[in-house]
Amino acid sequence: MKVYCILGDERALRSKSPALFSAILKRLGIRGSYVPFMVAPENLGQAMQSLRVLNIAGANVTVPYKETCISCLDALSEGAEIIGAINTIVCKDGQLKGYNTNAIGIMDALSTVGFNVEGTSALVIGTGGAAKAAVFILNWLRTHVVYVCGRSPAKTLEMAKRFHSEALSFETLSTAPFPVDILVNATAVSSPDESPKMAAWVQQLKLPDCRLVLDLNYGRQKNFWQEMAEAQHIRFMDGLGVLAAQARRTFALWTGIQVSPEEFVGVLREI
Ligand SMILES: NC(=O)c1ccc[n+]([C@@H]2O[C@H](COP(=O)([O-])OP(=O)(O)OC[C@H]3O[C@@H](n4cnc5c(N)ncnc54)[C@H](OP(=O)(O)O)[C@@H]3O)[C@@H](O)[C@H]2O)c1
Repeated sequence: MKVYCILGDERALRSKSPALFSAILKRLGIRGSYVPFMVAPENLGQAMQSLRVLNIAGANVTVPYKETCISCLDALSEGAEIIGAINTIVCKDGQLKGYNTNAIGIMDALSTVGFNVEGTSALVIGTGGAAKAAVFILNWLRTHVVYVCGRSPAKTLEMAKRFHSEALSFETLSTAPFPVDILVNATAVSSPDESPKMAAWVQQLKLPDCRLVLDLNYGRQKNFWQEMAEAQHIRFMDGLGVLAAQARRTFALWTGIQVSPEEFVGVLREI
């Protein structure tokens, strides 16, 4: 019997991961369970130690601990080391190794729709953990240039410097057409209810050369990224494919089993 879990704040209790991984374990006939744990910041160290003590087979980490939990790990994958954030922990022989499958999930999702970023220019909106994973993987896939734009100029500059990308301001982007091949939304907002201000700003964007808008969020009834893309005849993709791809990669790290992306997408649509 294997036990998997997700650690985070109260958002861990709303995560789709327990239902998703439980369904996959059941479909594969693996005896196991996956549980969410809400952890207070002052207890993070003890919670991480519990993974070792309780022989947890694998864990996910979600907001706000993707970066802070790193100091409690024994090892990091190369990508996670560069990104500076993890979402997956493999527990083996009492040792905890951290991985970032957000980045590889973006790579897989782009590949699924046949979008090759090599030599292209990309624009990533946001400066959080998902944005860092996106910039890392776009660089790794040999994008010609990655522009970064967040609402905090200081965070945008810091991120651009760290990932050898170009910082842009919201003002620059809304005043003139901007030539990029792909835009990735890595902010937490996609619907006008979440941010009327962001919705108004996105409506002003003019992306004449853009061929794909990838929103890492999903499940919004009304999505201003999608509306902007459709108005300019740009292909739109929400974050469900990325979620399925990263979950699939996480599952493979934990179990060594390669489940098809379609299986993960199918379960995600049902839960
Ligand atoms: N599909 C997937 O598999 C997948 C994977 C990872 C993440 N995600 C989604 O991607 C989003 C970002 O995740 P994360 O881990 O990067 O979270 P995070 O570290 O909390 O970063 C959130 C980012 O959104 C920005 N933001 C929040 N509210 C905003 C607003 N009203 N206007 C403009 N910017 C705003 C934040 O800016 P400040 O820093 O200035 O606050 C920050 O840059 C989340 O919604 C998450 O669910 C999806």
